[in-house]
Amino acid sequence: MVPDVVFVLGAPGSGKGTQCSLISKEYDYVHLSAGDLLREERQRPGSEYGEMIEEKIRNGEIVPVEVTCSLLHKAMQLSGKTRFLIDGFPRNKDNLDGWERVMSDKTKLQFILFFECSRDLCTERCLGRGAAGSGRSDDNLESLHKRFNTYLNETMPIIQHYDQQGLVRRIDAEVSPEEVFDSVKKVFNDTKRIAA
Ligand code: C5P
Ligand code: MG
Repeated sequence: MVPDVVFVLGAPGSGKGTQCSLISKEYDYVHLSAGDLLREERQRPGSEYGEMIEEKIRNGEIVPVEVTCSLLHKAMQLSGKTRFLIDGFPRNKDNLDGWERVMSDKTKLQFILFFECSRDLCTERCLGRGAAGSGRSDDNLESLHKRFNTYLNETMPIIQHYDQQGLVRRIDAEVSPEEVFDSVKKVFNDTKRIAA
């Protein structure tokens, strides 16, 4: 069976991770966060990519797709499951092209879940997360500035690309996690109805 994939995109702090963990509890999807997989690889003793990943993360830049895509592919195979939420990917054209080269024939892209949230609110959330001890080397003002530039210049064009194909499901992410999840559920329930 060809695995189903939902890409989850939105600015840093728009709530992708929070919503993905809620979705994976209520629906039969495995949550794979590209950022989490990269942070794990960075920590893996003997990883040849550790330093490169840390430098990219701190500077809010995107790691070459060969690394990210192979981590995603491995995690998909290891899970033994067939439905995936891929959180924080594809973030730029390199990510998109790399996925299309290797994975698009092996998977069925269902839709893109896109969390819309203002820059001010996203910044406030990430700084709050940093202050609460996220331990992330990029939850600081300087990195956030760079992450937002990358988001606007590199990720937005990817969202536009999928929008032209009618694949983007927009979610207002400025409200509470529970309210955001209500909108998210509508999208997943509609998909189930159409598939049934
Ligand atoms: O999604 P998250 O905020 O966890 O991503 C943190 C960082 O991980 C990004 O700013 C970027 O440096 C890196 N990343 C990447 N490629 C992805 C996803 C994340 O390089 N597809
Ligand atoms: Mg995240």
